[in-house]
Amino acid sequence: MTALTLSTAAAPGLRADAIVVGVAKGAKGPVVAPGAEAVDKAYDGRLAGVLETLGASGAEGELTKLPAPAGFKAPLVVAVGLGAEPEKDAGYDAEALRRAAGVAARALAGSKKAAFALPVDGPGAVGAIGEGVLLGAYTFDTYKDGAKDAKAKNGKAPLAEASLLGGKPRDAAHKAAVARAVAVSEELNRSRDLINMPPNDLTPQAFAAVTQTAAKEHGLKVQVLDEKALVKGGYGGIMGVGGGSAATPRLVKLSYTHPKAGKHLAFVGKGITYDSGGISLKPAGHNETMKCDMSGAAAVFAAVVAAARLGLEVNVTGWLALAENMPSGTAVRPGDVLRMYSGKTVEVLNTDAEGRLVLADALWAASLEKPDAIVDVATLTGAMMLALGSRTFGVMANDEAFRSAVHEAAEEVGEPAWPMPLPEHLRKGMDSTVADLANMGERMGGGLVAGLFLREFVGEGITWAHLDIAGPAFNEGGPFGYTPKGGTGSAVRTLVRLAELTAAGDLG
Ligand code: BES
Ligand code: MN
Ligand code: ZN
Repeated sequence: MTALTLSTAAAPGLRADAIVVGVAKGAKGPVVAPGAEAVDKAYDGRLAGVLETLGASGAEGELTKLPAPAGFKAPLVVAVGLGAEPEKDAGYDAEALRRAAGVAARALAGSKKAAFALPVDGPGAVGAIGEGVLLGAYTFDTYKDGAKDAKAKNGKAPLAEASLLGGKPRDAAHKAAVARAVAVSEELNRSRDLINMPPNDLTPQAFAAVTQTAAKEHGLKVQVLDEKALVKGGYGGIMGVGGGSAATPRLVKLSYTHPKAGKHLAFVGKGITYDSGGISLKPAGHNETMKCDMSGAAAVFAAVVAAARLGLEVNVTGWLALAENMPSGTAVRPGDVLRMYSGKTVEVLNTDAEGRLVLADALWAASLEKPDAIVDVATLTGAMMLALGSRTFGVMANDEAFRSAVHEAAEEVGEPAWPMPLPEHLRKGMDSTVADLANMGERMGGGLVAGLFLREFVGEGITWAHLDIAGPAFNEGGPFGYTPKGGTGSAVRTLVRLAELTAAGDLG
């Protein structure tokens, strides 16, 4: 990953491949953002005009390259759009900085060192720019043969070093902001790697092994239930879904504990390493990206490790429900009834509604420990994508205040989210003639129906929220901001923020 440093150096004398400056959309054209004064001065105060001549407006996502002024050690200036200039006295929005830094970092792939002269008005901005750089520079080339010499033949190595100007290298808050950005981004990027890994390599067993290695490295407790233990324990949901695959299912419990913790959070992730739909097979055109169906588990994994690396004063347990949904002679059939870990029976009417089945067992397992709150994360329904598009996740909960808190935490870290209801009238659509309930209900409001199904497996009196990340988990379009093509790491930062808020006593 890109190395991140804070620097008080002046722009002209900097030895770097490029200097990144911010340009915002002002009322009368582009304006140079604070932090780039020295660069602007070297252009005789005409940088905004030069940028306008080159066609720049300051719009978000825009990138303009120009030769550095005479006398600069760095040869290149990269101006990156920040969007609308903030009101007088208001600072630049953290997310605008994060996205701009991401755009610049991605454009600087192949470079050794870049200096970022973006507006920094405190540790918040330092953290945001740091995250933007580390997340924007991400590439996944493990499977590109040319990558063997650390440089992909068909691409460029990620930016090696980023120096944040305006950051204070000896200020404790600034240093902490960098450390947080590094820990969160490193784990988030690791979750992207897992999502991008092909499903022939990332089986439930392989995923579980990755968590065991990480647990050792970060002093976490890990417990892996294999198929024998799952059968013995009565995990009918996970076994039912995983029963069709030669790659057997796993339930991973990853625990981070702090000696002074007052609260306990449980995170539960859907970890379908490949969703073919099972016997209710998905048609071609709907299965090419279904390796991303373990994004919830990847997010939970990353968040627990990040919480440990940050030493948060809270106990966090991650539950990863790992299975591959495949059709075969041993696969669950539409019409089968499963006895779930909670004891409830479920009639499987559509084997493609598998996420809720594995989550049901993990939610119940999490509930037995009576945590203060449970948050599950899942690429659960196409319906949520239809409702909210590909960049926003839905937030459902059994408690309105908690739903709002989760929504706010998401917005705070720059993850678009939206509250969704759990309308009671949709519950009866899941009534089954043979079992306690069916895994399908009304088609309309399918994302909410799935949420209502999950609610049935949350222990009495436990505060619970459900994040349906089917839209934002996997980016099928081009890269934007700090979001690459492919696995995005959706929900990781929201979960980490929830753990921080809980540790600070500001949540629940
Ligand atoms: N993994 C899918 C949901 C999904 C779709 C995630 C597209 C990401 C992108 C899930 O298991 C699924 O197949 N859901 C069905 C549920 C239906 C059968 C009730 C769906 O949304 O169609
Ligand atoms: Mn499915
Ligand atoms: Zn699925």
